[in-house]
Amino acid sequence: MQDRLMPDAADVSPPISRDIWELKYRLKDAGGAPVDSSLDDTFWRVARAAAAVEKGGKRGREQWAKRFHDGMADLGFLPAGRILAGAGTGRAVTLFNCFVLGKIEDDLSAIFDGVKDAALTMQQGGGIGHDFSTLRPKGAPVASIGADASGPVSFMEVWDAMCRTIMSAGARRGAMMATLHCDHPDIEAFIGAKADPAKLRNFNLSVLVTDAFLEAVRGDRAWDLKFGGKVYRTLPARALWERIMRATYDFAEPGVVFIDRVNARNNLNYCEEIHATNPCGEQPLPPFGACLLGSINLARLIEKPFTGDAHLDVGKLAERVKVAVRFLDNVIDVSNYPLPAQREEAFAKRRIGLGVTGLADALIFCGVRYGTDEAAKLAGTWMAAIQNAAYAASSELAEEKGAFPLFDAERFLASPNVALLDKEVRAAIRRHGIRNGCLTSIAPTGTISLLAGNVSSGVEPVFDYRYSRRLLSRDGSAREETVEDYAHAAFRRQFGPTAALPDAFVRAADLTPAEHLAMQAALQPWVDSAISKTINCPEDISFEDFKDIYLEAHARGLKGCTTYRPNPVTGAVLQSAPAA
Ligand code: CDP
Repeated sequence: MQDRLMPDAADVSPPISRDIWELKYRLKDAGGAPVDSSLDDTFWRVARAAAAVEKGGKRGREQWAKRFHDGMADLGFLPAGRILAGAGTGRAVTLFNCFVLGKIEDDLSAIFDGVKDAALTMQQGGGIGHDFSTLRPKGAPVASIGADASGPVSFMEVWDAMCRTIMSAGARRGAMMATLHCDHPDIEAFIGAKADPAKLRNFNLSVLVTDAFLEAVRGDRAWDLKFGGKVYRTLPARALWERIMRATYDFAEPGVVFIDRVNARNNLNYCEEIHATNPCGEQPLPPFGACLLGSINLARLIEKPFTGDAHLDVGKLAERVKVAVRFLDNVIDVSNYPLPAQREEAFAKRRIGLGVTGLADALIFCGVRYGTDEAAKLAGTWMAAIQNAAYAASSELAEEKGAFPLFDAERFLASPNVALLDKEVRAAIRRHGIRNGCLTSIAPTGTISLLAGNVSSGVEPVFDYRYSRRLLSRDGSAREETVEDYAHAAFRRQFGPTAALPDAFVRAADLTPAEHLAMQAALQPWVDSAISKTINCPEDISFEDFKDIYLEAHARGLKGCTTYRPNPVTGAVLQSAPAA
């Protein structure tokens, strides 16, 4: 039954899958003539590119290519968009989706070097993150020219214009993240920066929230805004917190990153310090850090959907994870890097970010309602299985190919994520080391989930059973396309158009913020980096009911949080479509 319901890789049935393949991933020559003959052909191109670094001659490489191909062919493993678009094409593009750029030194020449680094990275297709906390505040003296500094927020506009210009020709929107420390004197300007609907549209903003700041908020204490050892101003911590929450309520920015937790829980905290994340937040990265993403499509791995026996085959899942880890590890070696410092970073730590997509659809197939305790528990079990399988696979790889160069057994095994792993997995790491410094991360999967027949994206609930979305063409023009949720389409096909939907069918708008948070919190212990997730709130939620979401996110152990409430500044990102 499954094969009848699920789109087949060789014949991608829903129009959206075909459109996405055609638009984003099908290789075409310089004149626009197709080179990939089918999606299956695209998977072969990508699989062979990743297998090129394997030993064993042509035959050995072809065997690995087949395993990589088979991992993707049923859409059970989905490499991130940059890999599908770029691998094996011979083009000067990076296969990494996520970058964080280097520390911006506080002088004009270094600032514009930073813009250049960012431009070169974007040109190759990477999303970038930047910490602006190192720039002196607006109005601070610039001794060399006897003038006042313009401050981080105005410099961010230079990056924004650069991004707009570089992306104006492409079919993909540029994405950047800016972070600013919660004690920077310009933090209030940063918090309010996106109130103007014309400003900084290529940036997501996140405040780096420290434990000290949260304590000051909870204790209702004063908070110093400072730079370079000088206190510029002192204000009540709660006033600043309320300003963040008001802005988030009014125009869905800024998000928060709990930066002390991010660093404390980082496997690699013995050799790096993190101040920023990639654009969608799932990858907190050190300066010049980069991460490769890929997702296990849980919706595709459910056996006997819609029956009392529906379940995820954990053995099959572990096999798939093993192939995915080896595949991503190889891609580190075959990718281009926009900057030499990014290559050095990637080779020293061999970070990968394996995650999931189709979680909500998988729960629906199993008859479990997203947001319930049962769903949180089941999702946690699935992610724990992925986490253990990923580390086991990476340790096996270390035995075969060597551990990542900065591996330090004692300090690595002492880190909190690694401490949670199964005993046998920890023993294997102690014996053989590990190939990859960080392994798991949950991306938004905005585009690859459409390729896979519009499975629910990442860990998000089903947005709606049918909705319309804007598709950007290569020439930059946009059109609307109505898409149907994968599990919904499967249900309708099996039970007919009028059958009542079971209780497990639930949409983003039907959930409370607490239910959203509970799902994210259930997965976070089993994810090395972070999780891209938006806590969607109804437009009419009161500020009272909204204002503690970020504190709640912290209390539940999350590394960051982003909310979205439809508002006049950003409008609604996705539109529900009338039921057909
Ligand atoms: O679906 P796909 O693999 O293309 O990407 P995603 O999971 O939606 O996004 C993963 C990451 O790609 C984001 O966190 C960004 O770092 C980057 N990205 C970007 O640079 N530009 C976009 N328009 C979308 C994503």
